[in-house]
Amino acid sequence: MAQRAAQKESLRRRFVEHARAFDAAFGAGPAPRCFFSPGRVNLMGAHLDYNGGPVMPTAIDRGTFLAVRPRTDRRLRLASCLEAGTFELDLDAAAATRRGAWVDYPIGVVEQLRDSLADVRGVDVLFGGNLPVGAGLSSSASICVGSAFAFDAAWGLGLSSLERVHAALRAEREFVGVHCGIMDPYAVGLAEPNHLLWLDCKDSTIRQIPVDTQRVAIGVADSGVRRELAQGAFNERVDQATAAFAVLREHSPRAGCLRDVPRSVLEARRASMDPLLARRAQHVIDEVERTFAARAALESGDLAGFGARMFEAHRSLRELYEVSCPELDELVDAAARCDGILGARLTGAGFGGCVVLLAESRARDAIAAQIGEQFEARFGRRPPIEWFGGDPGPREIDL
Ligand code: GLA
Repeated sequence: MAQRAAQKESLRRRFVEHARAFDAAFGAGPAPRCFFSPGRVNLMGAHLDYNGGPVMPTAIDRGTFLAVRPRTDRRLRLASCLEAGTFELDLDAAAATRRGAWVDYPIGVVEQLRDSLADVRGVDVLFGGNLPVGAGLSSSASICVGSAFAFDAAWGLGLSSLERVHAALRAEREFVGVHCGIMDPYAVGLAEPNHLLWLDCKDSTIRQIPVDTQRVAIGVADSGVRRELAQGAFNERVDQATAAFAVLREHSPRAGCLRDVPRSVLEARRASMDPLLARRAQHVIDEVERTFAARAALESGDLAGFGARMFEAHRSLRELYEVSCPELDELVDAAARCDGILGARLTGAGFGGCVVLLAESRARDAIAAQIGEQFEARFGRRPPIEWFGGDPGPREIDL
């Protein structure tokens, strides 16, 4: 309880600074309204969302900060504490086009809301936050869902949380051009603290699965690897999964997505299939099974069983989906040798970014120290390792 109050107060203080930064960026005036939107970490169900499978993410107490002040005209000015430049948009002008910068995320959201903006005034918005970008913690969904939340509040649009999630999803898919699945905006918009969100991406059904956060800690170790072409590599995996499904569906006509393809169909077709596509399909079929097994383990209080599925998932991501790298593998191997670790695997798309850790709370500091030492011995630098609290999702912050 005391810890939650301290967390709340520290976030409020960060927002006082953010509101000050807003005045510095846009000039003094009425106090801006402030909004927070979390990032997310996914524990099970890797690369399943766009294959129609289940995922198990949770929101974390790091994310995007937004400060918003209404204007008297119909212009939007968007700036960030983390990047140079102010971008402008006129609500009376034709639909915006992509600019190839971070601002495409909020502009993409504005474009999704266009039809409801005939009578609203413009706003100035300052973005910021404490979520590492490109680390696999979904900074992009955080900014998109946060923008949908803040614009909805500022313009009084009366959207439901699911409508905001979908505006964010369409912004990323249709405006920014990433072929992403539904997991990230759902996790950011709908996750609850002390729970993992069970999201079945085939029919979008959700269920909150309790986690004993007194007993276990969730954190990440950052490999520090940021691959410039990660977005392209992610889209390539989506295309390969689509191609694998195209081959396999001929032999399983009732399947609506790769998740539905029976294992026996893959086995029967394997010899005549492109081996790369067979590996991708194998990961998906195994990971679906593992994710159901992980949920059953969690629901019966078997945390070690849940963690074992995370280690298996990492192996599959390395060998079958081929989205790992030596730094991520080292972090997982080092974690596996620690006393008190339950599970570890790469999180997010991969190609660098973070490993998610599930550990006995009592052991978390010793685990961080041991992983840090072993990683440093091989790569000559300490990986940042952080433990997170949960988060109740996008909200307005009262200063
Ligand atoms: C990225 C995407 C998600 C999901 C993961 C892999 O983070 O944004 O939609 O596909 O990769 O699980």
